[in-house]
Amino acid sequence: MSKPVIDASAVRLALGKGSARVDILKGIDLNIGEGDTVALLGPSGSGKSSLMAVLSGLERADEGRITIADLDFGALDEDALAAARRGRIGIILQAFHLLPTMTALENVAVPLELSSQTDAFARARAELEAVGLGHRLDHYPAQLSGGEQQRVAIARATAPRPALIFADEPTGNLDAATGEAIMDLLFDRQRETGATLLVITHDPALAARCGRIVEMRDGAIVSDRRAA
Ligand SMILES: Nc1ncnc2c1ncn2[C@@H]1O[C@H](COP(=O)(O)OP(=O)(O)OP(=O)(O)O)[C@@H](O)[C@H]1O
Ligand SMILES: [Mg+2]
Repeated sequence: MSKPVIDASAVRLALGKGSARVDILKGIDLNIGEGDTVALLGPSGSGKSSLMAVLSGLERADEGRITIADLDFGALDEDALAAARRGRIGIILQAFHLLPTMTALENVAVPLELSSQTDAFARARAELEAVGLGHRLDHYPAQLSGGEQQRVAIARATAPRPALIFADEPTGNLDAATGEAIMDLLFDRQRETGATLLVITHDPALAARCGRIVEMRDGAIVSDRRAA
């Protein structure tokens, strides 16, 4: 395997209070090499989004160690973690998380500006055109369909050309043809930059395009294999 860029060992996470407290991740060991494409599968509630949250630094693990590109995430404070993520990690969340007061164009351009890239607006426009939204640049998220919001989220995450792309069901709200076009785009971006891609999906076609398939059940990894 190539040099590990994601290295998680004995990661545990529990969330919620009192009787709602749930052990969500129950000792996860996972190594992902630079440039690898990994599909994360598993039933609803098995902990996929939670694992992505701790690996991308959005959530802190209770126990265990997470090293991303040689940075010990557990040892970084919030500011250092945010700085480490900026420009390096692109995250496409299950519930898009677009900023409601910004247009599609601004949602994509602002992270580019924050990572000090030049021509942020011109690049954002090109990214949105690439996901088929050139005609929706000035729409606010509430004026976009679910699939359109998903495509804005993908453009936003991949525009800075991050070394790591985390995607939580990126084609979950798209029709088959649009989903396929978005998958092409995602894998093109991955190839262009040699980025590492971890994608959560229930879609066998998307999983089959990844080099490796990791399966979770009830907070644990139950299988890890090369894709056929
Ligand atoms: N903040 C929280 N407090 C308590 N329990 C939580 C919290 N967030 C998630 N959970 C629980 O943790 C479990 C794993 O959730 P997670 O979102 O990681 O699942 P998932 O595998 O991504 O599922 P899906 O395929 O439905 O998106 C679920 O049973 C969920 O109810
Ligand atoms: Mg999920």
